[in-house]
Amino acid sequence: MILVTGGAGYIGSHACIELLNAGEDVVVLDNFCNSNPASLDRVQEICGKPLVVVEGDIREQAAVEKLIIEHGCTAVLHFAGLKSVQDSVARPLEYYDYNVIGSHRLLRAMENTGVKKLIFSSSATVYGKPQFLPYTEDHPLNAINPYGRTKLTIEDMLRDQYVGDPTWSIGILRYFNPVGAHESGLIGEDPRGVPNNLVPFVAQVAIGRRDRLNVWGNDYDTPDGTGVRDYIHVMDLAAGHVSALKLLDTPRCFAVNLGTGAGSSVLEVVRAFEAASGKHIPYDVKPRRPGDIDAYYAATDYALRLMGWKATRTIEMMCSDHWRWQSSNPNGYG
Ligand code: NAD
Ligand code: UFG
Repeated sequence: MILVTGGAGYIGSHACIELLNAGEDVVVLDNFCNSNPASLDRVQEICGKPLVVVEGDIREQAAVEKLIIEHGCTAVLHFAGLKSVQDSVARPLEYYDYNVIGSHRLLRAMENTGVKKLIFSSSATVYGKPQFLPYTEDHPLNAINPYGRTKLTIEDMLRDQYVGDPTWSIGILRYFNPVGAHESGLIGEDPRGVPNNLVPFVAQVAIGRRDRLNVWGNDYDTPDGTGVRDYIHVMDLAAGHVSALKLLDTPRCFAVNLGTGAGSSVLEVVRAFEAASGKHIPYDVKPRRPGDIDAYYAATDYALRLMGWKATRTIEMMCSDHWRWQSSNPNGYG
């Protein structure tokens, strides 16, 4: 039985599909602070298989221990946490509480119940300003905002835990920019409030929920002047978790990029989304967003060598799958 923390969220719900399809039993622990339990009903509909859903908080260590014992969990995929860079600047203590203290309590609960296999959702944001590109896994780590520092602190805690007890097996997955949705269109990203991220915002313009996109700067050192990122289809990302899980039978601690290795600019994404949706996306160029970096993308050879995994879906597929979800669920899960 695999414990999936934050399994009702955007990436966790897609990972649950891949886990169920790989024949794993799944128990999700989620407090639904940024998700809707309906996502997990849809996951079960897609897979034609049940999973167990427990409403609860990773910071409640005793309850997590009880859950692990009751369900006989043998490994944990840990997605639960807060993820907005902007909110983390305004409310850093909340971010340290949910992310760092939450992960610490979860690890304690695992230690006390003898569960030593963990996959952790980290982020390319731990690399900070690029000293070279693509980011290889040994690029210096230098998070530049509170959210990124919580991720880096958790990474450090995990590396320390492995040194302290090398019978643990820990996979740290550094996601680049996840977009898209399951090809059924039944589940997808459902941001609360105004989306911070590019593709969810573009999708809401396409569906008519927002008037125009703001393009944050067109004077970057990139081919068309707009920011370049490594967008990865969320189902490729989900598959990466199943590949990583397979490695945990042997004690180890590794950190690996999950990206495609290719960058797309903001305007390239807008054009791909227009083609996928048949909708015009009007936009205004605005000043740069504080803290944004010109361009970054992943080195992908280590993921291939280590796990035999690589992303296969194109930016066109990311946009058309995202659009299928958005257009059949204009208000998300409602
Ligand atoms: P999400 O907000 O959709 O999912 C997170 C889930 O965790 C939600 O269902 C939320 O309700 C739950 N949760 C939060 N705090 C909890 C707590 N204390 N106890 C129990 N459940 C809790 O986010 P996502 O996009 O699916 O991201 C998943 C993970 O991947 C996060 O850790 C995030 O930091 C990381 N990540 C995301 C991105 C991205 O762009 N989406 C990029 C890099 C890393
Ligand atoms: N952008 C716009 N307009 C918008 C939103 C974004 O022009 O309304 C631009 C940004 O300036 C950037 C690009 O689109 O150039 C991508 O921005 P996102 O906000 O979608 O993604 P980021 O790369 O800024 O950050 C994301 C997550 C972080 C994570 C990081 C690395 O939000 O949590 O990827 O994984 F840390």
